[in-house]
Amino acid sequence: MKATPPNPPAPLAALVDRTGGVHPAHEIRGVVAMHRLGMGLAAELHAGDVLLLHGDLGAGKTTLTQGIAAGLRVPEAIRSPTFGLVAEYDGMTDGGTPVRLYHLDLYRLDTPAELEGVGFDRYAEPDDGISVIEWPERAGGWLPERYLLVAIDYAGPDVRRVTIQVVGATHQPARATKR
Ligand SMILES: Nc1ncnc2c1ncn2[C@@H]1O[C@H](COP(=O)(O)OP(=O)(O)OP(=O)(O)O)[C@@H](O)[C@H]1O
Ligand SMILES: [Mg+2]
Repeated sequence: MKATPPNPPAPLAALVDRTGGVHPAHEIRGVVAMHRLGMGLAAELHAGDVLLLHGDLGAGKTTLTQGIAAGLRVPEAIRSPTFGLVAEYDGMTDGGTPVRLYHLDLYRLDTPAELEGVGFDRYAEPDDGISVIEWPERAGGWLPERYLLVAIDYAGPDVRRVTIQVVGATHQPARATKR
């Protein structure tokens, strides 16, 4: 068995290039590694960030979110929201600033118009928090203009290829768009 370092490795600080561009894919072997990727990502996040997690059923979106939550020092266990589309948690950024974590799972969304009912604007522009959105493609034109796109692809039974892309970084502050 390989020893797991207690902290995410330092190179993860380079994960998020806020000037845009696509980072080389990370090959993530096993749940623990995905968890650590989330922790590394969390260290780069602050209030206002929106992460869109794109990937098939069972790709590892919730697993990554659990790592992000751990990195934000959220004390409770994260599962996909069972009732409603969003679960909210209290966390803390790497710098020690309190931050909310908004975990949205849009899988069961029937139509993007339903987002109005959950006050989606607040999660698309989370002034006081970080939004992590599973199945963002279901939101149609309601997505914000600025976000981190995390794509997770299968690369073997326990292996996932993860790419992280900053989208809209050079734009004005994020605005929810309703097309
Ligand atoms: N490298 C890996 N990273 C993440 N999960 C992995 C990995 N290898 C195997 N798994 C397994 O894949 C599954 C990922 O489940 P998870 O709930 O995180 O996926 P999801 O993308 O959120 O799915 P859903 O679309 O149903 O919400 C788990 O059963 C986990 O044990
Ligand atoms: Mg999930």
